[in-house]
This record gives sequence, structure tokens and C-alpha cells, in this order.
Amino acid sequence: MRILFYDTKKYDKESFDKVLPKYKDIEIEYADSDISVETARYAAGFDAICAFVSSDLSKPVLDILAKEGIKLILMRCAGFNNIDLKAAKKNGITILRVPGYSPEAVAEHAMALALASNRHIHKGYIKVRENNFSLVGLTGLNFHHKTAGIIGTGKIGAAMCRICRGFGMRVIAYDIYQNPDLDFVEYVELDELLKESDLISLHCPLTDESYHMINSKTIKKMKDKVVLVNTSRGALIDTEDLIKGIREHKFHSVGLDVYEEETENVFENREDDILQTSITSRLLSFPNVIVTSHQAFLTEEALEAISYTTMENAQSYIEGNVIEQNLIHE
Ligand code: NAI
Repeated sequence: MRILFYDTKKYDKESFDKVLPKYKDIEIEYADSDISVETARYAAGFDAICAFVSSDLSKPVLDILAKEGIKLILMRCAGFNNIDLKAAKKNGITILRVPGYSPEAVAEHAMALALASNRHIHKGYIKVRENNFSLVGLTGLNFHHKTAGIIGTGKIGAAMCRICRGFGMRVIAYDIYQNPDLDFVEYVELDELLKESDLISLHCPLTDESYHMINSKTIKKMKDKVVLVNTSRGALIDTEDLIKGIREHKFHSVGLDVYEEETENVFENREDDILQTSITSRLLSFPNVIVTSHQAFLTEEALEAISYTTMENAQSYIEGNVIEQNLIHE
């Protein structure tokens, strides 16, 4: 099986090159560019492609891939909201993903954002570098004995619940299904979670139901001085409403690893470009907001697990015995 990897970064090559020798029937070619209507044709002559969270897998792209004979897409990530599943099914393309490579990697980053934004670590670091040892503007809040509200208690949300418990927090959660492993968590309705929580962390997938679940109405229901963290998907939050809420001093701090306009920027060095949109710069104009660029997954352990599972997915397809739990259905 020849696989074309799109949007490959140095860390992808390193982790996949480590596992590749174990898979004698598989060859990989790495491409720097991400997949698009223009680059989908490069897949001609390959059996499969491998893509990532921000790859364009819309109908026009999938139609080209199908025309070039691609029957398998290997997602080296968990999320798949960037794929037109109807078009994939229609084109007879199988999609396999890595559902849970390291939930702790993402949850630990969520807590890092919560702590860094709450305690103004980003400001403190810059201040001390400039010989400014004043503490004015750096006052934070204790998390101990406060309430953490976790939205979505699957693999990552559950890891976040455990971390928050370790901080001595009361942990409440909202999910459409309750996770039986979390006996220390109190499940509540969304409105109650919004009303009660001092820290709110989003860990549910982006779906039609969850799109813009954080908006002016839900923000109004939150406690004043709440800390909000999103490591899940940008469009869970209506960013214009968030910006309005920040301007109205609703939030003590906000930590975002994902945000609505990220697709253009994510994983690219655009320091010499004039950006055509302003969400990121507006968010970064606030002293109590920290933004990272979809890096919550990025630990050595997670990369190792991603490369191993992706290769196992490919091998299972070769053997005609695909790993059912990694299959993406429409
Ligand atoms: P999971 O599938 O294990 O858990 C998701 C949970 O959300 C489930 O318990 C589900 O019942 C719940 N849920 C679904 N719709 C909901 C709704 N409308 N309201 C409340 N709960 C709802 O997924 P996992 O592995 O925990 O990942 C969660 C999300 O994290 C992914 O969908 C992905 O968007 C994001 N992610 C972000 C990464 C990053 O680097 N920033 C890396 C990996 C995942």
C-alpha cells in the first residue's frame, strides 16, 4: 500500500519513520502541502492518503480523490468534522481515524491554559523579561474548593475531570451520556453547569447540536469571573459573542487552543503575512486571553500512539479486516 501523507510536519515524519519499518507492505510519501482541490490530484498512483484535523475533505476534494482511485483515508487525529461523510460514502471511500491517542495530553493542555490564563503566566513571563517586577494586574483565583464544569465527559473530558479533582475542585459535568467511570462527578443540566462553574472546559465534539453552544445567551448564564477553556473545536463558541462577553468583563480569563478562524493559520508560520481576518488579533488584544494553535495533542506519547494506530489502521485495511472502532460512519 502506497500512502500519500498531506500536510506533513517534522514531528510527523519523525514519529511515522520510527514505526514504518515494522510494516513491510506499506510505503509512505510525505508532502508538505495540505490537501485541497488543487493538491488532491497528487494522490494519483497512491492507494490511500493520510490527512489531519484541518485538511479540506469537502465533497469537491473527495470527488477528485475518488477519481484518482483513492479508496482509503487515514486520519491521523480523532476529530472528523472536516470530512463530508456523505460524499465519502457515495465515493466508496473508507475512513479510519485514531479515536483516543492520549486523552491526558489534551486534558493536561486544557489545565495548562486554565492555569496560565488564570494566573497571568503569559504576562508575568514578558514582564520579568523586561525587568518589570511589578505584580499589578497579575492577581489570580484559587482553583482549590471551586467548581469545575466539564462539558463532554468522553475520553478527554474524563481525564480533565480527574485533573480537576486532583486540584481539590468540586467537579460537575454535562453530557448527553453519563460516563459510569466518573463516580466522583455530579452530572447536571447545561444551565446549572453554566450557573455553578468557576472553571468551564469544553470537551464535546463539534456537531449540529453543539455548534455555538457558547453564545451570548449561555455566556449570560455563567458566573461572573468564570475561567473558560476550549481545547475541543473552535465553533463550539460564537467568537463574536465571546469577544462581547470579554469586553463586558464576564470572564476572569479565557484559554483557547482552538478558535473559529484557525483553519487558515493552524500549523503554519504566517509571521510575514498580512492576515485577512481579525479574530485572533482581537482575542489577543485582551490581557486575560491566551491562544495556542491547536497544540493540545502535541506530546511525544500522543505522536507515538497516533503513528502506531494509523499504521495499524492501514494494515487492517490491507488484511481486509478493518478495525471497526476506528471506522468513521456517516
Ligand atoms: P469522545 O468521543 O471520547 O467524547 C466526547 C463526549 O462528548 C462524549 O461523551 C459525548 O457523549 C459528548 N457529547 C457529544 N455531543 C455533546 C453535546 N452536544 N453536549 C455535551 N456532550 C456531548 O471524544 P474525546 O476523545 O474526548 O474528544 C473530544 C473532542 O476533543 C474531539 O471531538 C475533538 O474535537 C477534540 N480534540 C482536540 C484536540 C486538540 O489538539 N485540541 C485533540 C483531540 C481531540
